[in-house]
Amino acid sequence: MTNSEELERLREEVIRSRLPLHETATNVVMGKGSPEAKIVFIGESPGRNEDLQGMPFVGGAGKNLDKLLEKVGLSPDEVYIANILKYRPPENRDPLPEEIKAHTPYLVKQIKIIQPAIICSLGNYATKFFLAEGNADRMNEQPGITSIHGKVRVVNIDGMKIKLIPLFHPAAIIYNRKLTELWEADMKVVKKEVSQKTLF
Ligand code: URA
Repeated sequence: MTNSEELERLREEVIRSRLPLHETATNVVMGKGSPEAKIVFIGESPGRNEDLQGMPFVGGAGKNLDKLLEKVGLSPDEVYIANILKYRPPENRDPLPEEIKAHTPYLVKQIKIIQPAIICSLGNYATKFFLAEGNADRMNEQPGITSIHGKVRVVNIDGMKIKLIPLFHPAAIIYNRKLTELWEADMKVVKKEVSQKTLF
C-alpha cells in the first residue's frame, strides 16, 4: 500500500473511532501535503475554516504558514502539515488533556506512515507533546516555545527517532515582525538539517 492509501485508511479509522469532539465538529481534519515528506509540521487544532473544509491550516494561520514557507523556498506541497487534534474544539478553546490523549495516537500513526526526518512543532501544544515523547501526562513539565524555538533535539516517538525543531505558531507571528524574523532564522536550521545526507 502507498503512504497515501495508508493515510486514507487511517482517516477512515479516525472517523470510526468517534473521538471526543467529533459530535460538535463538521469534518475530521487529518493532514495535507506530501505523504512522503521529509519535513512534517504539526499545529494545535483545527479552527473554523479547517473544520468546514476538512483540511488543516486553510484559514488565517494557514495563509501565513504558506507565506512563511514560500519565503524560505518551501512549497506546502512538499511538506506534510497536520495537527495534535483531529477535530475542532468548540469556540477554538484550548485542547483538554483527555482530548490530546485520545487524538494523538492517530497523530503518531500518521508520523509512522510518513516517516519524516524532521518534525517542526508549531507553538506550545505540539512542542510539549513531542518533547514529552508522546506522553500527554508529561506535557506540563516541558519548557515553552519561547526558550527552545529553533533548537534541534532528537526525540523518540513510539520507537521512531526523529529530529524535533520547535517553531513559533504561524498564528502568533501574524503582523509580528520580530517573530517572523525568528521564524525565518529557525527555518534556516530546519533546511540545514534536512540537507544533511545522514540524519543519524
Ligand atoms: N491553527 C492550528 O494549529 N491548526 C490549524 O489547522 C489551523 C490553525
